Amino acid sequence: MEGSEYIISCESYLHDEAKHTEMFSRWQQAVGVGDLDLSAYHNDSYKRIFYEALPEAMERLYTDDSPEAVIRAAAVYNMIVEGVLAESGYYSFRQIYKKAGLFPGILQGIDYLNMDEGRHIQFGIYTIQRLVVGNEERFKLFHDYMDELWAHAYGVVEYLVGLAVLQREQSNVESRIVFEPDMMRQYAVKQFHIRKSKIDRARKYKNLSELEAAAGP
Ligand SMILES: [Fe+2]
Repeated sequence: MEGSEYIISCESYLHDEAKHTEMFSRWQQAVGVGDLDLSAYHNDSYKRIFYEALPEAMERLYTDDSPEAVIRAAAVYNMIVEGVLAESGYYSFRQIYKKAGLFPGILQGIDYLNMDEGRHIQFGIYTIQRLVVGNEERFKLFHDYMDELWAHAYGVVEYLVGLAVLQREQSNVESRIVFEPDMMRQYAVKQFHIRKSKIDRARKYKNLSELEAAAGP
């Protein structure tokens, strides 16, 4: 049962995600922004994904392990939240602070965390591919949902890029930090297309047995 296998894996990811949250929270404390209210950065697009789509899709799995429910959960959690938003955030953070020679500790932490995230994303791809193979209706369900979420995901990226640009314009302090507004935008677009194309690779196979045979033992 692909559905229950995915749900059990999500439960094990909770441990990883809790450790990631703890790492960022300790870092915030250490650099003196532990009390910063991050909800100030949650625009409507962010809220649509993190306050609504993600919890709705994951909570549905408590009572529904149908292919449709699992495809939607893996799409929003593994493909959009992890595969597009988190990846773009880590990439930008690395680009900016590595070049500036700042924050080596948290950059190292993000490298470790990326290994966990890579595993989560791969399992999301594996799960969705197995559910959509040989089934055009489910391929469509996946792509339609990804497109619907993309508008909001890009809204998050655009908002954060806008804030960074505004901050730079308003600051008259000389800084080592260089931020290229298009870098994060382009990376997010690229990640979105990569996630979709990974799922489309399953189109090469007529059914699950063919897909499994190609993946090897
Ligand atoms: Fe994750």
